[in-house]
Amino acid sequence: MFSQKLEEAAAAVSSRLEAVLAGRADQPVTHAMRYAVAGGKRLRAFLVIEGAALHGVPAARALQAGAAVEALHAYSLVHDDLPCMDDDDLRRGQPTVHVKWDRATAVLVGDALQTLAFELLADPATHPDPAVRVDLIAQLARASGIDGMVLGQAQDIAAESAARPLTLEEITALQANKTGALIRWSAEAGARLAGADPAPLGKYAQALGLAFQIADDILDVEGDAEKAGKRLQKDAEAGKATFVSLLGLRGAKDRAEALVREAEAALAPYGAAADALRDTARFVISREM
Ligand code: IPE
Ligand code: IPE
Ligand code: MG
Ligand code: MG
Ligand code: MG
Repeated sequence: MFSQKLEEAAAAVSSRLEAVLAGRADQPVTHAMRYAVAGGKRLRAFLVIEGAALHGVPAARALQAGAAVEALHAYSLVHDDLPCMDDDDLRRGQPTVHVKWDRATAVLVGDALQTLAFELLADPATHPDPAVRVDLIAQLARASGIDGMVLGQAQDIAAESAARPLTLEEITALQANKTGALIRWSAEAGARLAGADPAPLGKYAQALGLAFQIADDILDVEGDAEKAGKRLQKDAEAGKATFVSLLGLRGAKDRAEALVREAEAALAPYGAAADALRDTARFVISREM
């Protein structure tokens, strides 16, 4: 069953991250790192793990790459929640790092979780061939930096004070950077670990990533904050153009549904072996957190 599969993967990723952070300097920043990487759906790691399973990659390698992307994702959330960004006090049902510790610690936790991601990928446990590791590292660097997530975050912040609301095309491009790039890296990682063509999974991930962000925007409007574990109704408050503000709730839901069908269609080359990834696409738009 899908939810059980996701939970098992999440538990394995959490154990891996705990092990990786064990025995590090006994400092507040280290405690805050452990706190920040805990919890979450582990969707990105799950994409790595399932994409890897599809290509016969040993589970321990997939887990290593999955832990890496979750460390990087956790960094992005810690910084996203800072007062100078979205100014949020709740994340994954807990006080945010800058609230529980302080802003300097939150900045450093983000910095250290980002470099931890690359440390994990550089480890031979990820793959015995250094060329494969460098490929994963280079792709993750691109996906998370100025060609990817950081660019999307900058576009997102700029949109708050833009003279006119973003168009659908602009917001789609923004999302592909902000959320899409890391999701795409995650879905493609298994193929890269196997030395296989990542294109079909990349196509799947492009539709999935967009559906994921539309679902996040819908949750912000009509989600249950208790279940989501974060403050909601923040986008309208900040005057953000989202898929919901542009398409309306019904339109956003229809678009997300169409994208899920597109994601499913991209998995055709893999047949029934990709069923968990099909379930993931469904999960992404039906989730409550
Ligand atoms: C939230 O990501 C931030 C966005 C990119 C929209 P997730 O919804 O995957 O957060 P966690 O990891 O499950 O907490
Ligand atoms: C966060 O997007 C995206 C990244 C951290 C890269 P949001 O600001 O929409 O995420 P939430 O709603 O705070 O989880
Ligand atoms: Mg944000
Ligand atoms: Mg935010
Ligand atoms: Mg959001």
